[in-house]
Amino acid sequence: MQARFQTRITELFGIEHPLLCGGLMWLADARYVGAVVNAGAMGFITPRSFPDLDAFRAQLADCQEITCGRPFGVNLYISGQANQNDRVDAWIEASLGAGVRHFETAGFSPSRWLPRLQAEGAVVIHKCTTIRHALRAERDGVDAVALVGHECGGHPGTNTLSAATLGSLAAEQLRVPFVLGGGMGTGSQLVSALSLGADGVLLGSRMLVSEEIWAHENYKNHLVDLDASSTTTVLSTFGKTYRCLDNEAARRVRDLEAQGISDFDAYRDLVRGEAARTAYETGDWSHGILSLGPAISFADTVEPAADIIQRFIHQAQHATERVGHLNPTHPGAR
Ligand SMILES: Cc1cc2nc3c(=O)[nH]c(=O)nc-3n(C[C@H](O)[C@H](O)[C@H](O)COP(=O)(O)O)c2cc1C
Repeated sequence: MQARFQTRITELFGIEHPLLCGGLMWLADARYVGAVVNAGAMGFITPRSFPDLDAFRAQLADCQEITCGRPFGVNLYISGQANQNDRVDAWIEASLGAGVRHFETAGFSPSRWLPRLQAEGAVVIHKCTTIRHALRAERDGVDAVALVGHECGGHPGTNTLSAATLGSLAAEQLRVPFVLGGGMGTGSQLVSALSLGADGVLLGSRMLVSEEIWAHENYKNHLVDLDASSTTTVLSTFGKTYRCLDNEAARRVRDLEAQGISDFDAYRDLVRGEAARTAYETGDWSHGILSLGPAISFADTVEPAADIIQRFIHQAQHATERVGHLNPTHPGAR
């Protein structure tokens, strides 16, 4: 019988596979999240991607329809600038009102919003880049933690540790369930994460070639051609490290940083979020800081999210068998 992977995370999220597909700014909409949920994983709609509350509500309604009542999630990015969090309460109320009970928080501490969410029985997983922040989130009362290594697409923060190292440390120090993210693109990494003591993995970059991701096909076809050295980091000099596609915009930002320019105004046009959205719309990937990590190198075709997830699980089953065969008393051992 093929191995299934039941963990504290599959239980908490009511999912078949211990796979969480993290929020993707501009891209994690109802169609994408619905597809990963229907494939047995958990996905999170990113409210910041939509122009207003009505547009976000429409996404929630679409996702309910696509998933036929299966649980799906919402990503709440908590900014360090209080005025950037003005809409968080409204997103939470809209989500709870639509029956959402699974939230991925990221960025700064979600503690201010935990009582409201947990009073409604919601499950909150907080994404962190260091063990220190993970322990703080655990103390604050989150239900689970996602730890992302420096390989992750998006914001690895000031962390320089890999997902594997974070996983080994977390297994010794955390009590709440945790998943590992950063660089995850093939099923054997799930088995490796589970063997470290994690309860699942978090996917981001690998899923960008899903058919259900609305980005222009030129961009997705470009992603398929990339290898593990196609990403870079920018903005470390501002303490805001960002892992992204190594494109013209990223090179220009790196040049400014190398020149020691510390006035953020010089960077603003290059790094503004709308430039990334335009790149996804037009397929001209030279502009915008486009979140991306080396997990993209595992992608070799654009295909339905369900096919990516199914293959991931088959690879994990295969890895489990491979390890099992290393035991000389195993019936199938060579
Ligand atoms: C294109 C893209 C956009 C992202 N946007 C968000 C976001 O809006 N909020 C968030 O919490 N994480 C965001 N992330 C991070 C992912 O949710 C996830 O933590 C990360 O991609 C995992 O690492 P990986 O890319 O190596 O798989 C984004 C990642 C990518 C690749």
